[in-house]
This record gives sequence, C-alpha cells and structure tokens, in this order.
Amino acid sequence: MGKIIFANWKKRVTTEAEAVELARGTDAKGLVLVPPHVFLREVAAVVKHAELGVQDYAPDAFVSGARYALVGHADRRVAGDTDSIVAEKFALAVRDGLVPVLCVGESRSERDSGVTNSVLKRQIVSGFSRLMNLESRILNPLVYIAYEPVWAISGGADVEQCSSEIATQRIAYIKEQLLHWGYGITAKYLYGGSVTSKNAAEYLHSKDIDGLLVGAVSVIPKELKKIWHSASKS
Ligand code: PGA
Repeated sequence: MGKIIFANWKKRVTTEAEAVELARGTDAKGLVLVPPHVFLREVAAVVKHAELGVQDYAPDAFVSGARYALVGHADRRVAGDTDSIVAEKFALAVRDGLVPVLCVGESRSERDSGVTNSVLKRQIVSGFSRLMNLESRILNPLVYIAYEPVWAISGGADVEQCSSEIATQRIAYIKEQLLHWGYGITAKYLYGGSVTSKNAAEYLHSKDIDGLLVGAVSVIPKELKKIWHSASKS
C-alpha cells in the first residue's frame, strides 16, 4: 500500500467548473482532494477513486462527502483560530466521524529563538485536550498529525525548504509526545511545506512520514500526478 497524498487546493480554484475539471483530472486512489468548502458537493459528485477533505472543520463536512478535516492549518491560525478553537474543531471532527488532520508547526521566529519543541508540544497537548473528554476516544479514532513548519509553507516571503531530515526529526518528537501523553489513539503523520514533484520522494522515503500535505502544486495535475506516483511506490 502506498503513502497518502492530501491535495490542499486552498483558494486557488475559484469556479465550480474549474473545481470539477481539476477533480476529474486528478481522481485517483490514495489521493485526498481538499477543495474549498463551497465546491465540496460538486466535487463529491464527480470523484470515483479519491477521498475528500475540508480545509477546516465544518458541521456539514461529513454529509457533504468529506472523510477528512484539516484543523489548525497555519492559514486558520493566522486568521484567528486559537489553540482552544483548534481543540474544539479537532474533537468535533472526531465526533462527526471525520478523520481530523491536526496541523502543527513553528514560525520562523519561534524556530530561530529555539522554542520549536515547546511550540509543537503546546499545539499537540492543547489540540488533544477536548478529544480526551469525548467518549468516542474509546473507539480509538484514527487521526493524522501534519507537521507544517510555517517558514516552509509557500506563498510567504523568504520561504525556506525544510529538509526531510528536519521533518523526520520533528515528527519523531511529535510521536514521542503522543506516546508520553498516552492518548491511546492511532495516529499517522504527514509532512507539508513547499512539497513539489522534485522533492516529494525525499520525504516519502522517511519511514516516519506516512504521507504529504501538498498546497501550491496540488492544483497542477501534472505535478500532483508525479507526487502521487512517488507515493504509490513508497
Ligand atoms: P505549500 O502549502 O505546499 O504551498 O507550501 C502547504 C500547506 O499549506 O498545506
């Protein structure tokens, strides 16, 4: 079985026709298409092989065809989602039967001042805090944790590439936290931040990384297919 690729379209697709065309052109098993919420139902109506996700938890996500919900993505945290809002959305997603993808990652200034681990720990501990009160945790829900260093996400100024070694180290630290806090859940781990067809294989090579969260190039079918191809072999 190959590794999983999440295609986070963000706001790069702006019309229904574009959304449907992109979904048809990239519909493959092992891919999770994450369109803007307004196009979710239209995309759900045309895909046959890919799974679907939402860019942020929404109460109608599950009934509209999504199986996954990103929570705490850097874009949402910048837009005002506090740790406590993220925790609430994470728990609501599980309650609704969605698989949540908790996005965590330090900013450039946090990294430069040496507090990366404490930021990751805070985002994890706080992210799980509401889930632990839910009865559904007894069912051992599957969750994904995406390590997305803010300084490596494309679109900002001075974007840097996060090496696969650093990504692997950070994910190892996140795993330790989950073990340490004994959440008793099944977690899988993604890396996200300027992934392209040129560097995808390096991350996919890491045995600690179960898949990738791809932003900018996820709306370029040729690029996405190459990444998907690397993932299906790993
Ligand atoms: P990027 O975005 O691949 O464009 O860096 C990743 C993300 O924000 O999910």
